Amino acid sequence: MSDGAKKVFVKTYGCQMNAYDSERMRETLAPLGYGEAASAEEADLVILNTCHIREKAAEKVYSELGKIKRLKNARSAGGQSLTIAVAGCVAQAEGEEIIRRAPAVDLVIGPQTYHRLPDLLSRHAETGLSVVETEFPAEEKFRGLATRRPAPRGVSAFVTVQEGCDKFCSFCVVPYTRGSEFSRPEEQIERELRELAQSGVREVTLLGQNVNAYRGPAGLSLAGLIARLSRIDGLTRLRYMTSHPRDMDEELIAAHGENAKLMPFLHLPVQAGSDRILKQMNRGHSAADYLGLVAKIRAARSDIAMSGDFIVGFPGETEEDFRATLDIVDAVGYASAFSFKYSPRPGTPAAERDDQVPEEVKTERLQRLQALLQSQQQAFNRSCLGRSLPVLVEKRGQQEGQMAGRSPYLQPVHMRGGPDLIGRVVEAKIMAVGSNSLSGHYGGDMADSGVSAT
Ligand code: 5AD
Ligand code: SF4
Repeated sequence: MSDGAKKVFVKTYGCQMNAYDSERMRETLAPLGYGEAASAEEADLVILNTCHIREKAAEKVYSELGKIKRLKNARSAGGQSLTIAVAGCVAQAEGEEIIRRAPAVDLVIGPQTYHRLPDLLSRHAETGLSVVETEFPAEEKFRGLATRRPAPRGVSAFVTVQEGCDKFCSFCVVPYTRGSEFSRPEEQIERELRELAQSGVREVTLLGQNVNAYRGPAGLSLAGLIARLSRIDGLTRLRYMTSHPRDMDEELIAAHGENAKLMPFLHLPVQAGSDRILKQMNRGHSAADYLGLVAKIRAARSDIAMSGDFIVGFPGETEEDFRATLDIVDAVGYASAFSFKYSPRPGTPAAERDDQVPEEVKTERLQRLQALLQSQQQAFNRSCLGRSLPVLVEKRGQQEGQMAGRSPYLQPVHMRGGPDLIGRVVEAKIMAVGSNSLSGHYGGDMADSGVSAT
């Protein structure tokens, strides 16, 4: 709270793209004198950066707003103020409704308007009125958002290169909340990555709702962008997520076999294994198309670790359809995965259907699917036992004298060592395996693995 300097507290929900946006909002506010607060209690401005993909997302935001409103009331009783902003996909989806249900909210800003934060705040300060801004100028957003980052935040960073989605899967709100596909110009991205590399970042994950649909202004593909970015000195690892099977082109597949900085890990959601359900989901591919794609990717890079997203209990899903999902999981063998019960999102075609699957059936299917995915993850981790993996060391581990990093396959790896290892790719001989992480023995510096998988 006001001890001279102003402070902002940004609470982030949902995906990495939101985490990236939250960071950019903090930077945009820094020139106005806003420092970072550790909690809402310490802040003059609270921003809830929301996510709309999960069930009851909006309700959770309203209940959080109830708490913050009490804080605001207590503040004004003491003659002080608190500004409340709601950003992100719930802001986009609910718009004016937020002010109607939670009048204590001062600002409602959609994901494409963060660069206007300073203007919107001053408009609010001048008029005392609440401001709702949910337009879709994505291009303006990236130009207007601060590009210089504050003090380095670590070894591994996320950078949004693409936003929005034109795919319209019938269960998903993203095309409505984030708008149509938009890609940032490659020069802008390259500049940002060079600055990150100079400040100590060694690994960058390129983010986008459909990142492999990336198209630069002159037509540069994601594979072309990766080739360009991999020439930046100091960056040792590149990753990207999330990809759509339909946009997984030959050039990108080939890059996995050719570019040693591109890590052998691919998040490629299939959502379901039944062709009938895939069609109703409007995915635009069959189970066989997906399996063919995975085979091609593995032919380019044999050790690639596959990851995916799955939905159980899509409207009309039968036991037979669900078994087809188990079958596709069996056929692929995932190193990690996210799985969800279908939840109707208002405004999406699947939410209108009257053949919704009962909750207990969804719960039971999710348990079966997660048991299978968990066993695959453990099998994948066990397959690393005894191998020497290149580990990018990121930070101190939880125990004294222990460091933590990531394998090329994104598994967390712990090993004994000192903080001098941070930012280096070192060899770790994997000695023990848990369900979610590996323990290794430090064996000296190592080049990141090229194409070979030993
Ligand atoms: N219900 C359940 N899961 C969903 N996802 C997106 N929309 C829904 C929904 N309505 C999941 C998809 C997507 C991931 C980010 O969230 O699996 O890939
Ligand atoms: Fe949503 Fe489908 Fe677009 Fe992914 S591809 S963001 S699931 S509509």
